[in-house]
Amino acid sequence: MEVNALVGQLTSRKTECLVVAFGNQGLDSPSLKSLDEATSGLIGRLVKKGDIKQTDGNFLLLSEPPGLAAERLLIVTTGKDNLNEQAFLNLVAGLSGQLTKLPIKSACVSLEGIEVSGRDDAWQAQQLARLLGEAAYLFNPFKSAEKKPSTLKKVSLVLPYRKGLEAVKTSLVCGTAIANGINHARELGDLPGNICTPSYLASQARALAGKHPNLSCKVLTEKQMQTLGMGSLLSVTAGTEQPAKLIVLEYKGGKSGDKPVVLVGKGVTFDSGGISLKPGAGMDEMKYDMCGAASVLGTLTAAAESQLALNVVGIIPTVENMPGGRATKPGDIVTSMSGQTIEILNTDAEGRLILCDALTYAGRFKPAAVVDIATLTGACVTALGSHASGLLSNDDELAGQLEAAGTTSGDRVWRLPLWTEYDKQLKSNFADMANIGGREAGTITAACFLSRFTKNYRWAHLDIAGTAWNSGANKGATGRPVPLLMQFLMEQVGK
Ligand code: BES
Ligand code: MN
Ligand code: ZN
Repeated sequence: MEVNALVGQLTSRKTECLVVAFGNQGLDSPSLKSLDEATSGLIGRLVKKGDIKQTDGNFLLLSEPPGLAAERLLIVTTGKDNLNEQAFLNLVAGLSGQLTKLPIKSACVSLEGIEVSGRDDAWQAQQLARLLGEAAYLFNPFKSAEKKPSTLKKVSLVLPYRKGLEAVKTSLVCGTAIANGINHARELGDLPGNICTPSYLASQARALAGKHPNLSCKVLTEKQMQTLGMGSLLSVTAGTEQPAKLIVLEYKGGKSGDKPVVLVGKGVTFDSGGISLKPGAGMDEMKYDMCGAASVLGTLTAAAESQLALNVVGIIPTVENMPGGRATKPGDIVTSMSGQTIEILNTDAEGRLILCDALTYAGRFKPAAVVDIATLTGACVTALGSHASGLLSNDDELAGQLEAAGTTSGDRVWRLPLWTEYDKQLKSNFADMANIGGREAGTITAACFLSRFTKNYRWAHLDIAGTAWNSGANKGATGRPVPLLMQFLMEQVGK
């Protein structure tokens, strides 16, 4: 989808659909006033009749509106107050959903009259481009009767004045790149485990690197991981026929000497639990256990497409977690690349076992900061549900930057503590640590485990178990936290 910006009048705009906002100023906003006059008072009459209600998220579609050059008029109403970020995003997501369902190829959107406290036109434009791109996502490679993709190809954001036009245009390019990154992550997440294997993720990473000259890809084999001493990662892949991979993507958008931000994504392409087998109900959803990896690939897609001026490294440890004759057993002890030994008390706590070796490997890049992203614990779903990802960090400044990026992008996080009292729960009688910390505070003890491998750099962990996909009737990957990560990276430029 192409989203551009132009300056012009609404009443004379020839378009298949003109979208206008009935914002908190109501009919007093200049754009609404001009539309009301051109339609001989139609807007005012619709308000009187009650067809335009000043409550959040109401849509009214009028065909062949009299007095306008547009073929359709879609009126979006907000409440009487200024919106916050989340309310704006919900509204624009709704608007995007409506637009992509209409039988039209192009549309014009005016957001005049929508105020979001503390956010400018460029911010609004970025979110519009992002949400329009997301709304056009369609996954149906396996349906015999194909669903029809949206016909909408081009949307113009109409501004009333030239001021800020260049910034808005730049934001639209970023927003579209972010949407493409999100949709790439969703597609990988939605693919089933028999197709999206570790080898498939590696081929996707290579293909991505092939498209962008400043993105390179290297894939380590099990043999190479053996040589590096990644005994913890390799213990997870012992029960499967699928070969494990360690994918390393390097994006060079910054100066050559600048330290990179390293993103590490959990890529368990199917998590059966291994010998500590999961119950059968809902086990299909464990195909989403590679959504951390998908978010790294999605973020690098967006970074490369928007030519982000920053060095970013993506590291993806990817395996399938299966039971089998050679599978790791509860009680087995392995040695990680860091030299620390781990007693595996539960083979279903496998994410941390692959991440710890990838995090040790991340140290090689002398990172400015490392952020790992993982569908790590069911406990995080219990604690935060699907609205916020869990955030745990050894650095207050980094944590603050991620929290702020979460608010800006609407892809929110909530921080949990990493106190030593929790870390003590990982005590093992036989090795340096156990891979589980008991029933209590499962999200925190999982992060405490990872923190033992991240002492040498600024690090943050995002537990996306509750945010990476929707369950139920709308089952599907969300592409989170690509919006958060891209916002965070964009704010790192120049730091
Ligand atoms: N991939 C799961 C976490 C998960 C569970 C994500 C449910 C989304 C929904 C992870 O590998 C896992 O199995 N974690 C265990 C850890 C436990 C054994 C300490 C869990 O959360 O139950
Ligand atoms: Mn598991
Ligand atoms: Zn898992």
